[in-house]
Amino acid sequence: MPDWTIQKLLTWTTQYFIDKKIDSPRLSAELIIASVLSMSRIELYTQFDKPVPKDKLDRLHELVKRASGNEPVAYLIGKTEFYSIELEITNNCLIPRPETELLVERGIDFLRKRSGKQLVCDICTGCGSIAVAIARNFPDADIIATDISDAALKTAERNVEKYGLQHRIKLLCGDLFDPLIPQIDKSGFDLIICNPPYISAGELENLDKNVKDFEPKEALCGGIDGLDIYRRIAKKVDEFLKPGAALMLEVGYSQGQAVKDLLEKTGCFAEIKIEKDFHNNDRVVIAEKLQP
Ligand SMILES: C[S@@+](CC[C@H](N)C(=O)[O-])C[C@H]1O[C@@H](n2cnc3c(N)ncnc32)[C@H](O)[C@@H]1O
Repeated sequence: MPDWTIQKLLTWTTQYFIDKKIDSPRLSAELIIASVLSMSRIELYTQFDKPVPKDKLDRLHELVKRASGNEPVAYLIGKTEFYSIELEITNNCLIPRPETELLVERGIDFLRKRSGKQLVCDICTGCGSIAVAIARNFPDADIIATDISDAALKTAERNVEKYGLQHRIKLLCGDLFDPLIPQIDKSGFDLIICNPPYISAGELENLDKNVKDFEPKEALCGGIDGLDIYRRIAKKVDEFLKPGAALMLEVGYSQGQAVKDLLEKTGCFAEIKIEKDFHNNDRVVIAEKLQP
């Protein structure tokens, strides 16, 4: 049998993924082959003619088979990129989405307008993506990041350590605000940011297989109408925010008004805005707390 070179493997795997209707077939092939060969994607192209040894081919075969069963590439290779930062990913965490970068962007914009040390809370942190992205781009922030999943927090811990942020990001396990109560002094947070589970029970059934069958349900499902966590956040958030501080929530594509209404009812916000993402869907709700 002729040698399998990197070039041949790329061509074959890409075509296989096209036939199996896998998303982004070329990119998926590059990511998996680069991971198995411990190379960057660029190196694949500079070493096109290099033969691939048998043990690597066996490993590749296994991963390609799993990918063709719709297992997300990020879980197969154990990493993903978010806000230009490489993050470790395990199947206990949601894979961070490009849409969430808008939430991070708005959070950083808000912090840059304030002066002095800023205390930030990232609720539902998952693999720690939002907390790490803010900490790396805004050095004056100390962050408390919480999640109900201990397994997700273990991955977050490794991401925090990978970027040497242990002294600025504290990870706590528990239900929404519960783990914060013994932590904060009376003055509260400058920014509370959160990408909660917000898929409704009905929509959950219609998600793509790679999401529905592989990503953790507790990271996706927000109850019957998808708004459960927003209701619970709206009930409690006031006592955790400083005057003039902001609450920023990622929302589902049509949830902006419903979440805005929930926050308006609290009476504690001066201004509430809905922002659209690059697909023109509702994506972020930003609420600034009244000054005294
Ligand atoms: C949509 S994922 C967001 C993960 C990450 N922040 C991101 O943007 O990629 C939601 C996360 O909320 C966590 N979660 C679900 N219910 C929670 C609760 N009641 N309290 C705290 N975290 C919760 C899940 O474990 C999951 O990690």
